[in-house]
Amino acid sequence: MTDQQLTYSPFDPEMIADPYPVYRELRDSAPVYWSPETSSWVLSRYDDVAAALTDPTTYSSASGVYPTPPGVDMTELFLPMLVMSDPPRHTQLRQLVSKAFTPRRIAALEMGVHAIVHDLLDQAPSDGTWDFVAGFSGPLPAIVIADMLGVPREDRDRFRTWSTTLVQSNPIRGEMGPGLDAAAALYDYFSTFLAERRARPEDDLMSALVQAEVEGQHLSEDELLGFCLLLLVAGHETTTNLLSNGAVLLAEHPESRHQLSEDRDLVPLAVEELLRYDSPVQGIGRTLTRQVELHGQRMEPGDSVLLLFGSANRDERAFPDAEVFDIGRRPERHVALGRGIHFCLGASLARMETRIALDVLLDRRTFNWDVDLSGAERLRSGPIRGFASLPVQ
Ligand code: HEM
Repeated sequence: MTDQQLTYSPFDPEMIADPYPVYRELRDSAPVYWSPETSSWVLSRYDDVAAALTDPTTYSSASGVYPTPPGVDMTELFLPMLVMSDPPRHTQLRQLVSKAFTPRRIAALEMGVHAIVHDLLDQAPSDGTWDFVAGFSGPLPAIVIADMLGVPREDRDRFRTWSTTLVQSNPIRGEMGPGLDAAAALYDYFSTFLAERRARPEDDLMSALVQAEVEGQHLSEDELLGFCLLLLVAGHETTTNLLSNGAVLLAEHPESRHQLSEDRDLVPLAVEELLRYDSPVQGIGRTLTRQVELHGQRMEPGDSVLLLFGSANRDERAFPDAEVFDIGRRPERHVALGRGIHFCLGASLARMETRIALDVLLDRRTFNWDVDLSGAERLRSGPIRGFASLPVQ
């Protein structure tokens, strides 16, 4: 198949339903593929994606992390964000937020996560159909982030609406209106809390972010608001969909679910395999700062490049039997959480939430849930793979 016959359209409903056959074609026939739809190059092989992630001097994040049409600059649409910055600014910002987002703060959430998981499952009907997204995978990360930041849990539905609207707006067509409205509402919401925490600090992440200091530098108001937006979208939509995709995969692989329920030491490995096999973040963009030649294709400075994590993690050149879901494998090399300087700041939190959710689900539901994919609704997002609703029996 030639480049011309191949079509990569990340927002196309067929691609959203199952992108993996197209990824395979891309890896095999066009590992450096020019996608007219996204006006960007698409890298789909594991080695190429991993190399790009660890070379931020060539593959810059400073112009945004998803392709936009010519003339649309994502960094002008949003307040400054860690994920959309390069060194040296990225190094300073990451040091500042890491002062507040500490392993101790995350470890302290563990008991709370257990309680939230039990509480949500207590509200599930004992028989009949339950929307896993509305009842469980959506609220869990939203409540955890609300608790961590120190804002009321009751506002979680607003968090969900904002973050789901943001990830479903389509930057490649420049259709960002609803996403920008959601961002504006979110900035407005958090600016009130930030003012309160400046006046009266509490023992929460937002107060710690306001106070964080490295060599006399603090985060500016815009950087604080930008980080709140990033935390909400990066920390919420991703974990929600790891949980939803995981519920589907384990229902489709009852033998793995049985094995997990018998041997809980396998749960952390299963979380890694879920991340690899059906990655919640399918692709992230970069912009080239210099000319790069790869697999015979020349890419020019200023070109946009999409790194397909979802494809890299299914690359048989990196993972034997990559298309097989196997909770016994050790898929540590996956790039579902990124790699290099932008490696996911919330990785340990996401892993902890998913591990506890799986453990408790297996305890309480004793491997007997079923999903109804015919009644499920996929998230209409290019970068994020998952569900808007997922009926579970
Ligand atoms: C399953 C869940 C998650 C997945 C799959 C995921 C995935 C990712 C990926 C792929 C990146 C790299 C972006 C890049 O290279 O441009 C990233 C960065 C980031 N993630 Fe996560 N993430 C998850 C959960 C979380 C959580 C729970 C939080 C926080 C509450 C979080 C906060 C962040 C932040 C702040 C960054 C930016 C880091 C930087 O630019 O230095 N993520 N995440």
